[in-house]
Amino acid sequence: MIPILELASQYKNIGQELEEAVLRALRGTQYILGPEVHAFESEFAAYNQAAYGIGVANGTDALHLAVRALDIAPGDEVVCPSFTFVATAGAVALAGARPVFADIDPVTYCLDPASVERAITSRTRAIVVVHLYGNAAPMDELMALATRHKLAVIEDCAQAAGCTSNGRKVGTIGDLGCYSFFPSKNLGGIGDGGMVLSNRPELAEKVRKLRDHGSAKKYHHEILGTNSRLDEIQAAALRVKLKCLDHWNACRRQVAERYHRLLSDVVEVPQATPGAYHVYHQYTVRTARREELQAHLMEHGVASVVHYPVCLHQQPLFASLQIPAGSLPESEKAQREVLSLPMFPELTEDQTTTVSKVVHQFFGAPVGAV
Ligand SMILES: Cc1ncc(COP(=O)(O)O)c(C=O)c1O
Repeated sequence: MIPILELASQYKNIGQELEEAVLRALRGTQYILGPEVHAFESEFAAYNQAAYGIGVANGTDALHLAVRALDIAPGDEVVCPSFTFVATAGAVALAGARPVFADIDPVTYCLDPASVERAITSRTRAIVVVHLYGNAAPMDELMALATRHKLAVIEDCAQAAGCTSNGRKVGTIGDLGCYSFFPSKNLGGIGDGGMVLSNRPELAEKVRKLRDHGSAKKYHHEILGTNSRLDEIQAAALRVKLKCLDHWNACRRQVAERYHRLLSDVVEVPQATPGAYHVYHQYTVRTARREELQAHLMEHGVASVVHYPVCLHQQPLFASLQIPAGSLPESEKAQREVLSLPMFPELTEDQTTTVSKVVHQFFGAPVGAV
């Protein structure tokens, strides 16, 4: 079976360094907000050229605390995509605000600025932009829109570590950038982890308090916070992995290049947003015959995953918003047609060739140029 993602090769390559880092954290005995977390916060912020980095427990909390840092509360609306992982809108709802869903561009799978503009009302406070599959959303247009309507921008960069938009790292263009270090991400830990980036000192300070029971000084609580701190062992592992991120992303882009050449005659292959350095967290193709193709791949030993089979506006979770079917046509079409193929930095040429052969066999087409 060619897996969708395989972490064993990565462990084989850097396992020893990872083990040393984990042991260092273990022997250091400063397990909460210790030196590894502080160093990784600085290193990840510097990598992204952000002024501040605040380590949190996971990407969902990063988004939730970013929403809270902007004082978004019940009565407020936040525009976000529906074609994304649940946490994007879940973070808004957890803060008591209302997610208002906008449609995507069918080529980039990221927010369509025209649809965002139509979703804005007098209650809108912010936009959550998602850099889906490792592709950058059209930040110039979205930032211009946000400025025109005086809205804050939160970037959901969970799938996009290392991605840039016109030369700037995602997560540093809006007011707050939210990262997930879930193990499958381009920069993945050895468990859960997350980070909020910001260039705005007051917002960074607020997130820092929110992640630690609303306090800047032990046992002095200024606001209602929570316990959402990046773990010391995760930070130690992530410091090792951060040094590999650019290389891994370059490998992902090479895999994507091969797939483009091999598959573009039979399926729609992904396209980067103009000005984006796409880091291919997923390599997601589309075809009207998605279900049959997925079954055929499975039968022939190729794993695939649908990201995502049900848009958020059609999830029972958001049924109370009463958004009728057909309201977000591009999102609803994408959910029927997309399919993510195996993608990880160590995927070999032989493996991509096999995937291509199986896909071509399904369509009854001769194998494309190699
Ligand atoms: C787009 C998006 N947002 C948010 C998250 C949430 O991150 P986490 O799983 O670390 O909570 C994820 C990943 O799981 C994601 O893909």
